[in-house]
Amino acid sequence: MQGVTIVDHPLVQHKLTLLREKSRSTKSFRQLFSEIGMLLCYEVTRDLPLVPAEIETPLARMQSPVLAGKKLVLAPIVRAGMGFLDGMLSLVPSARVAHIGLYREPRTLVAVEYFFKAPDDIAERLVLVLHPMLATGNSAVAAVDRLKESGAKTIRIVCLLATSRGIEKLRAHHPDVHVWTAAIDPELDAQGYIVPGVGDVGDRMYGTK
Ligand code: URA
Repeated sequence: MQGVTIVDHPLVQHKLTLLREKSRSTKSFRQLFSEIGMLLCYEVTRDLPLVPAEIETPLARMQSPVLAGKKLVLAPIVRAGMGFLDGMLSLVPSARVAHIGLYREPRTLVAVEYFFKAPDDIAERLVLVLHPMLATGNSAVAAVDRLKESGAKTIRIVCLLATSRGIEKLRAHHPDVHVWTAAIDPELDAQGYIVPGVGDVGDRMYGTK
């Protein structure tokens, strides 16, 4: 599928299977989620540009590569996206964080914004949207709309699971935004849950049901 990278790394696939099990404890779910976030971060940053830096080792001076440009922005969609944040920040500790508060109106599944805060200079930074469940595509489109409105120019989306319908909707609105996901699941139920999926991520991660 165009515009999507499936992260088929064995560690990601193994941890995703553990996460799917309904008997998993809140603690274990949260831990696995964070670990998968870290592994996805490694994949989504694979092509970041490098520039040579002049450094001094204990033995000699040398040119050695460092990341080019401004620190990236991690933009979790609250609540589920928060589950990726710690794992990703452990790999890119200087990243900036933008918070996107969206909830899905339960009847229409339309995304409604209740909070948004992003760095002023977001236009100069790569933005990674942390959106674990790309289901209908409504929240993904709303989040990218809002980020672009605030000036963001280079945006990538990091998911745990996606559906073809969600990806198609995102690509119809934002063909410039690439998606990384651990898997594409086949179905969406009437409540907008991905099937077989992992259930309600916020509830499972925070133990609210
Ligand atoms: N949000 C969730 O938490 N789970 C889904 O399956 C879809 C959206």
